[in-house]
Amino acid sequence: MERSLTPRSTTVGIKAIMAVTGAVLFGFVVVHMLGNLQLWLGPRAMHDYAASLRKVHGLLWVARAVLLGSVLAHAASAFALVRRNLAARPVAYQHARRDQATNYAARTMPLTGIVVALYIVYHILHLTLGVGVAGHDPQNPYNNVVNGFSNPLIAGVYIVANVLLSAHLFHGGYAWFNSLGLSNPRYAGMKRVFALGLAGLITAGNVALPVSVLAGAVRPTMETFCSPELGPCAVPAVEPGR
Ligand code: HEM
Repeated sequence: MERSLTPRSTTVGIKAIMAVTGAVLFGFVVVHMLGNLQLWLGPRAMHDYAASLRKVHGLLWVARAVLLGSVLAHAASAFALVRRNLAARPVAYQHARRDQATNYAARTMPLTGIVVALYIVYHILHLTLGVGVAGHDPQNPYNNVVNGFSNPLIAGVYIVANVLLSAHLFHGGYAWFNSLGLSNPRYAGMKRVFALGLAGLITAGNVALPVSVLAGAVRPTMETFCSPELGPCAVPAVEPGR
């Protein structure tokens, strides 16, 4: 028997895309945060980690393609859902709804999503490409991060963006359980604890990095590194007379 595409089944499909792409992005953020914590292990650890990501030829580009596809599909689905919600309720509620799903984090999802997207663009220009960053060295991600966070304005941007990201992750994690069918209020407490705990851990890890640089606990290094995977190496200065 042929199934017809009802507005409800389309909405369920869009939410499924959001749940799957959201899980991929959540996974990336966890792994990336753990990788970033290597700042505390020192410049060699950061360098080796960046080089190891590029050791298997093409793997990084596959991961980048999956990430970019997930971000685009996630954003497009969010946009479609917002449009559907507006079309279904052209007149706004007279009073703010107080059900558990419509808490502050939920209502600000479009806003935090846009801020996180802008943050990612800025972040790639800053730390991956080093656009406009004097002394950016692809061989030395440790110094790139430490030099960046030594500027309180840049550190502040990272701290604010990562706190907003945590609101997005918190509601996203909560909604993810609903998409899996766990929408019974009986599970509300468990879902809240899990989503809050995970979002809190990710944000604490990421925010601790600019804070530790601002506090002077992590300082730039004079060490130099050279791995062909990370691009051309700086030519060592030749001492006069040699
Ligand atoms: C304080 C927190 C963070 C630090 C210190 C940090 C550090 C870095 C560094 C050093 C790179 C360049 C890696 C390389 O070229 O080998 C990078 C790339 C990247 N980061 Fe972050 N990051 C942070 C938070 C985030 C967050 C929260 C997100 C996502 C929401 C994110 C998304 C990305 C992406 C998409 C890339 C590009 C990966 C690629 O090369 O394709 N980062 N990050």
